[in-house]
Amino acid sequence: MIGESKPTVLVTGGAGYIGAHTAKALGERGFRPVVFDNLTSGYREAVRWGELVQGDIRDEAALGRAFTEHGVQAVIHFAGLIEVGRSTQRPDLFWDINVAGTRSLLTAMQTHGVGRLVFSSSAAVYGQAGRGPLETIPEEAPKTPSSPYGDTKLACEWMIAAQCRAYGLTGVALRYFNAAGADPSGLIGEAHEPETHLIPLAMAAGLGDGKPLTVFGDDFDTPDGTCLRDYIHVNDLASAHVAALEVDLPAGAFEAVNIGTGAGHSVRDVVGAVGRALGRPVPHSTGPRRDGDPPSLVANASRARSLLGWEPLCSSLDEIVRDALRWEGQPRYGAGSRGARKT
Ligand SMILES: NC(=O)c1ccc[n+]([C@@H]2O[C@H](COP(=O)([O-])OP(=O)(O)OC[C@H]3O[C@@H](n4cnc5c(N)ncnc54)[C@H](O)[C@@H]3O)[C@@H](O)[C@H]2O)c1
Repeated sequence: MIGESKPTVLVTGGAGYIGAHTAKALGERGFRPVVFDNLTSGYREAVRWGELVQGDIRDEAALGRAFTEHGVQAVIHFAGLIEVGRSTQRPDLFWDINVAGTRSLLTAMQTHGVGRLVFSSSAAVYGQAGRGPLETIPEEAPKTPSSPYGDTKLACEWMIAAQCRAYGLTGVALRYFNAAGADPSGLIGEAHEPETHLIPLAMAAGLGDGKPLTVFGDDFDTPDGTCLRDYIHVNDLASAHVAALEVDLPAGAFEAVNIGTGAGHSVRDVVGAVGRALGRPVPHSTGPRRDGDPPSLVANASRARSLLGWEPLCSSLDEIVRDALRWEGQPRYGAGSRGARKT
């Protein structure tokens, strides 16, 4: 248990979407977050709760200096590349940043005696094998990722689990389903470039700021023919990280936990919810299915409740869309905020 002394937590990727919300949650709960980020897809202006150390996770020495200078006692590891489509074009880059970067982090933690890690994993580790179209996914479901991105997440989990066994590190991998929404303050929110996630794309289409939305496939074996996904509010995700940091686990333990609501919403449900929030329909058309898109990815989230004592509190589709829309109306992070894209 590390929650008693409220330690300093290094948040890799803390200038990004989920990392910034988690840094806020840590700050509000009395932890001292220190963000470690190279700003390739994150924003300086998103770092408002704790200071920023600009560096690359593949730089073991820079991580070591951050551990020593800030007295880091635990790490939440978000940093990495996230675009599934790009991972099929640049698998080498994804293995370098996601897997070699995690290797570098683990070695630096071992060298500096940092014994607690929470890792951003993903529902992408599962794929569709061995599951009926509408079954929810428990943690022990077969792991058959359908992209290099999913492969890298699974490889990281294996490496972390082995490191825990070998060196007494305590690790929790949180397998997120679809992160969405924004902090109600309007200070931070989703600003991926390029944006590939459904809710911001539907919102941009509805506001006339983007292209009309394409619904990829309406002939899946689901109630309305479009894909079902499990949307989780980014602030509920953030609180899951704090719970994973605080849960009482023995040295050497490694746990993998789904973070979702257990409820699936179809693409048509999302388009409808965004249209209701905007007060006008979202222009959209139907295109062909995308390769490797499973009909349904919905969590069995019972383990998060039993192990972490975690419950989603603000993840109804209407709350997610309401908060995402509030963020859409805010001035975005300044143009000079982001570091030059190096990858
Ligand atoms: N967004 C989702 O729906 C979702 C779902 C499942 C899992 N995840 C995982 O959650 C994590 C965070 O996702 P996000 O949506 O916040 O992404 P994001 O792109 O907004 O944040 C990633 C952050 O990592 C930083 N980064 C990238 N490479 C780095 C490097 N080599 N060294 C240091 N920093 C580096 C970026 O600058 C950025 O701030 C990722 O690991 C992602 O795979 C996200």
